[in-house]
Amino acid sequence: MKILAFETSCDETSVAVVEDGKKILSNIISTQINIHKEFGGVVPEIASRHHIENILPVFTEALEKSNCQLNDIDYIAVTNTPGLIGSLLVGLMFAKSLSYANNIPLLPVNHINGHIFSSFIDNDVKLPAISLVVSGGHTNLYYIYEENGKIITDLLGETLDDAVGETYDKIARILGLEYPGGPHIDKLSVNGEDVLKIKKPKVDGYNFSFSGIKTFITNYVNNQKMKGNPVSKEDIAKSLQEIIVNVLYDKILTAIKEKDVKTILVAGGVSANRRLREKFSEFKNIKTDQNEQIEVHFPKMEYCTDNAAMIGVAAYYDLKNNSQVEQRKQYDVDAIS
Ligand code: KG4
Ligand code: ZN
Repeated sequence: MKILAFETSCDETSVAVVEDGKKILSNIISTQINIHKEFGGVVPEIASRHHIENILPVFTEALEKSNCQLNDIDYIAVTNTPGLIGSLLVGLMFAKSLSYANNIPLLPVNHINGHIFSSFIDNDVKLPAISLVVSGGHTNLYYIYEENGKIITDLLGETLDDAVGETYDKIARILGLEYPGGPHIDKLSVNGEDVLKIKKPKVDGYNFSFSGIKTFITNYVNNQKMKGNPVSKEDIAKSLQEIIVNVLYDKILTAIKEKDVKTILVAGGVSANRRLREKFSEFKNIKTDQNEQIEVHFPKMEYCTDNAAMIGVAAYYDLKNNSQVEQRKQYDVDAIS
């Protein structure tokens, strides 16, 4: 089964062709990062205008690279939520038109579901698993298991305020670093010391809170500046890295103790973070309930940030979970921000 997938929820225009939910025949990503850099973040109106310019060439390239024709395509998948409304609409309208004109059923896909299923690309996931989705807009923790042939994704917890990527980007801005700030902080932290030793926020259950960490660092930087003291970007970067990675690690450790967990899956833009990857490899030292080693999986870099391949894979599992396939041939589906 071949799925042609579209992703335009934020500042990446991406189109992919996915075969049988795991083989990526093509995955073309056109990023607008350089355009939004000068504004210090994504400008929604500019993003949607660029999606309009990019979507046709990206679609043409994706189809060509996959060696497929439109009549080889069984389904068209498209991100319809959550995201920037103007950006979502460009992908959705393009996909709907293509679907209608070529009589190919349309599958709306949730963007976060896409990130979860990016972990299933080139990877036979052993379930049950814990999935952590860490991106610019989301910090969600899921318990994923199989029941009656269906893959269930139960939301265990989420951030009550800022997302992890958002925290990185906001602190980067305070330090005068370019957008997106995550990769810069990641790099700087290598030469820093955890001088701030920020305390873990007290948040019950599996939820997260990062806004206090942001306030703590903002106040520290302002105080140092007022006193005329130098501020080490490297030390702040290292301190931020440590507190964030430790908070995420601890929540997952709790889940491992409370549940049957065979695999840890990490997805979303922040999963590119090197300290996160290093620290999470420690989970491999913990044994499962069956006395096997816990597996830890990070997607390849091209599947960490927004991409259409993960949307195609998520659509495949949506289909598997729902036998009422024909009911999905619908054009009344809306973009929801
Ligand atoms: O998943 P993504 O590409 O887009 C959203 O759906 O938000 O994630 C982008 C986020 C940005 O906040 C960016 O700063 C962060 O991922 N990011 C990182 C790293 N690379 C990207 N954060 C920390 N360390 C990194 N190496
Ligand atoms: Zn994303």
